[in-house]
Amino acid sequence: MLNPIELQEQKDLVKPQLKGKDFLTLADFHSTEIMYLLDHALKLKKEHKQGHLHHHLSGKILGMIFEKSSTRTRISFEAGMLQLGGHAIFLSSKDIQLGRGESVADTAKVLSRYVDGIMVRTFEHQSIEEFAENADIPVINGLTDLHHPAQVLADLLTILEHKGTLTGLKLCYIGDGNNNMTHSLLEGATKVGMDISVASPSGYEPNQLITDHAKFIANQNRSSVLITNSPEEAIKDADVVVTDVWASMGQEAEQDKRIELFKPYQVNKELCQKAKEDFIFLHCLPAHRGEEVTAEIIDGPHSVVFDEAENRLHAQKAIMLALMGK
Ligand code: CP
Ligand code: NVA
Repeated sequence: MLNPIELQEQKDLVKPQLKGKDFLTLADFHSTEIMYLLDHALKLKKEHKQGHLHHHLSGKILGMIFEKSSTRTRISFEAGMLQLGGHAIFLSSKDIQLGRGESVADTAKVLSRYVDGIMVRTFEHQSIEEFAENADIPVINGLTDLHHPAQVLADLLTILEHKGTLTGLKLCYIGDGNNNMTHSLLEGATKVGMDISVASPSGYEPNQLITDHAKFIANQNRSSVLITNSPEEAIKDADVVVTDVWASMGQEAEQDKRIELFKPYQVNKELCQKAKEDFIFLHCLPAHRGEEVTAEIIDGPHSVVFDEAENRLHAQKAIMLALMGK
């Protein structure tokens, strides 16, 4: 098996068999599959910029169930389907019978008779697993409380573009360690051979099972995982600095408590002086300037957050083509 270092040196990666598969977490994918998706996303982006149109998903329909708000995920999946010649249907859980108590299993079985793939944004990760178990078509995770894999694929794409490599870089995440972004970053970074450090307040460390698995993968890929309560330790010599909101969707009632507790974890100029001089800053957005990150950093020269947001489109087109294409 080739490791990520050797894979990056290959010009054309062999297309893996992902047709019909679900995209629920990055842990479900081999390093070679993730590298293939990134490579394909780069090609799709280039072709898109050159004005080349592909209608490889002509006649295909993506259902998109949202139980939480969204700007980027909704628009990038919908635009991606249209650009590939297909169609997307936005399904707010408030408007479909799921919101009135129809079961996840019945909803998944019914939608499988109408559409070719389903993207789901929901609360409990277990719900999307139940959805996938009952659907006959690919199910794509558009964010759960535990994971946000489509975002992290776009993050890896952004890092690859700006740094020219992934393997051997150090990514540092500072903030709420026990959220969807941290968990998918732990999985994604270790799969591609990056070192990852996470700094969060005590009691807000990442999920233990996900951390243990990430350490196992890191060991295979000659990288490392550091979980700490010290932002200074985590950010030391980092190539990539990442943060996210301190209170995720569904945790609004904890917002005030978290603002106090997380203050020492703000990504600001002083803290970033400990990162490498040419570090890049990522945030999945939406951001709260003055809380998890200062305007000086997110709107400053190191920030690549809008490239990152754009890359949702290209990364997800690669995902949809792999799962739903020919
Ligand atoms: N980053 C992200 O998933 O944004 P939305 O909540 O706007 O979809
Ligand atoms: N952790 C954030 C990510 C938003 C895209 C949340 O779940 O609200």
